[in-house]
Amino acid sequence: MRQKLLSEGAKKLEYEIRNIVKKAEQIQKLGLPVYWENIGDPIQKNAKVPEWIKNIITKLVKEDSSYGYCHSKGVYKTRAFLAEKNNALGGVQITAEDILFFNGLGDAIAKLYQFLPPGTRIIGPSPAYSTHSSTEAAHANTEPITYRLDPENNWYPDLEELHNKVKYNPQVTGILIINPDNPTGMVYPAEYLHKIVAIAREYKLLLISDEIYFNIKYNEVNTLSLAEIAGDVPAIALKGISKEIPWPGARCGWMEFYNRKADAEFDRFCHALEDSKMVEVCSTTLPQQAIPLIMQDPQYQPYLEEKNRTIAGRGKLIASIFKDTPEVTVNQTNGAFYNTIVFKKDAFKSVNKNLTTGNPQTDALFAEWTEKPMPEDKRFVYFLLASQGVCVVPLSSFHSDLSGFRITLLEENKELLEQIFEKIKKAIKMYCRS
Ligand SMILES: Cc1ncc(COP(=O)(O)O)c(C=O)c1O
Repeated sequence: MRQKLLSEGAKKLEYEIRNIVKKAEQIQKLGLPVYWENIGDPIQKNAKVPEWIKNIITKLVKEDSSYGYCHSKGVYKTRAFLAEKNNALGGVQITAEDILFFNGLGDAIAKLYQFLPPGTRIIGPSPAYSTHSSTEAAHANTEPITYRLDPENNWYPDLEELHNKVKYNPQVTGILIINPDNPTGMVYPAEYLHKIVAIAREYKLLLISDEIYFNIKYNEVNTLSLAEIAGDVPAIALKGISKEIPWPGARCGWMEFYNRKADAEFDRFCHALEDSKMVEVCSTTLPQQAIPLIMQDPQYQPYLEEKNRTIAGRGKLIASIFKDTPEVTVNQTNGAFYNTIVFKKDAFKSVNKNLTTGNPQTDALFAEWTEKPMPEDKRFVYFLLASQGVCVVPLSSFHSDLSGFRITLLEENKELLEQIFEKIKKAIKMYCRS
């Protein structure tokens, strides 16, 4: 090539949630089963889309308008509906013009960081959901900048660290929160949110809240949406239908701009995002048309409530399975549908030197995967996959210096759920033995 094709930052684009799939496929090729705990796709975990939702979509499929381009910002009726829904919360008021649709929230996240000037940083939580941290780091051409979520304090953010990092890194221009959080299942308490808004206001920062899991909360937690806390701070809420409806294959997510006119720089940034969508013409039409029809249906609220009760129940069941596993810490989750299980400090002090998966073929794969040095939790995750067929994501891949792994609370089949978590427990006992 005459010139370099790849920027340095592109090397930061990692997505272990999908990378691990290549290893799992090697297990499948041996004719062995794989239990997918790596990705937050309810459909893959046997979720059934309710018949009434399918009926709404079937009707739309029969309408010609579903097949056309829509407005670059998204279907007007849907944006007006979402603006009204937001305004009913009584916080920051918006109109349909403050909403911008994307092809999935992943698309929105990629665009969000793309238009920041080089050197400008958005500080986000660690463990970090890699779609945010990798994209931000790739753009900045360096490591992600993060504030710690503390597993010893229910995964709540370390606000002192956040404040100090903001104070001493003038290139930090925004704060990201993910509420409820992926990968920890933590829900930001209202008092923490108010303090984060105060930091944003003091240092004139942009606030970003990824609220894709906002309607997946349980255990009667006390939290607030970005619209309810932002006050006069320029802010962007990120929302979507991949998780709550659940329709990840629709590729449909959106941004809500709050206080756009409060700051000219922020307004220009919102314009750039809108222009980028205009260049692409628009995002997926049919799922946008379905949103108001689904969310206004009288069956929607009871459906969400029932789903949340079930997820909470799974969380409790999993915690009870690990009760007698002293090698790990398991926090109670209050939202989203993941839990991050952390290895205690001395868990790897006496790693089993004679590990075997019990099958020469999977032993060979495990040996091949672990040839190079790697974080201990990643090695454990490979052992778990090779020995039990359970596919999870190591915590070190979430830009964290803690050791552990992320699991999901999605398996619909209770018997299978118990089997999977008993397998994980068995692998921990085999791995952490002297
Ligand atoms: C916190 C968070 N934000 C965004 C996304 C991306 O969602 P989408 O499927 O709409 O691209 C995910 C997907 O898992 C997520 O966990």
